[in-house]
Amino acid sequence: MMAAPAAPMLTVEGLEAAYGDSQVLFGIEFGLDAGEAVTLLGRNGMGKTTTIHTIMGLVPARAGRVSFAGSDLTGRPPYRIAQAGLGLVPEGRQIFPTLSVEENLVATAANRAGGAPRWTLKEVYGFFPRLAERRANSGKQLSGGEQQMLAIGRALMTNPSLLILDEATEGLAPLIREEIWQVLVTLKGEGQSILIVDKNIDALSRFADRHVVIEKGKVVWTGTSAELAADGTVKQRFLSV
Ligand SMILES: Nc1ncnc2c1ncn2[C@@H]1O[C@H](COP(=O)(O)OP(=O)(O)OP(=O)(O)O)[C@@H](O)[C@H]1O
Ligand SMILES: [Mg+2]
Repeated sequence: MMAAPAAPMLTVEGLEAAYGDSQVLFGIEFGLDAGEAVTLLGRNGMGKTTTIHTIMGLVPARAGRVSFAGSDLTGRPPYRIAQAGLGLVPEGRQIFPTLSVEENLVATAANRAGGAPRWTLKEVYGFFPRLAERRANSGKQLSGGEQQMLAIGRALMTNPSLLILDEATEGLAPLIREEIWQVLVTLKGEGQSILIVDKNIDALSRFADRHVVIEKGKVVWTGTSAELAADGTVKQRFLSV
């Protein structure tokens, strides 16, 4: 008899969500294994952020289930979901504007994945030397790119089992984007599990294992980076504007 395959780290089943009377998610389904990097792709307004917010408990699930490391997270409050090891870098960053860079980083520091903490101030400053240089500056004095580095650093400081990024490089200058992509490649190489939304499919394909394409609140395609590159119709049908 074959051994049953290990359960994925994250399992999303039949997820539905709505804003008032307006339903936005219609049965989202996907999984993510430990150590994997998975993307959520899709045009504007298709439900990527809502999917992430429903996973994080910030939007209530109307139906369906979110399981993480063997626990059912559905219906738990956001702080409990974060404590379970999901670290979010939100769209729009939401750093603390009046706290210094270093205060932002240590304010929510934790060791949620358990074991030896992997990401400390030393690693975060190593990933983003700009943050070390600006450690005494307040959040509101930072450029958009520096704020995004800080948002990523702050999420890493919780040592999440799963790092979730919504619009990882949106609106940033090309050099800053490249710096962030390189850090994500490094994190993935270190075994960090990642769920990521971004519009730069080429950069995502450098490190992502699989892609989940969402259209009108449903998963319409999933595949590996090689499968995405080989199937020219996916970009045309679901991703081009
Ligand atoms: N707070 C809200 N109240 C009402 N409707 C919302 C709210 N947030 C999002 N929506 C609607 O839900 C749908 C999905 O939005 P969502 O933000 O999840 O899409 P997205 O895929 O993340 O888009 P984008 O690429 O623009 O970030 C859209 O029609 C959007 O207008
Ligand atoms: Mg969004």
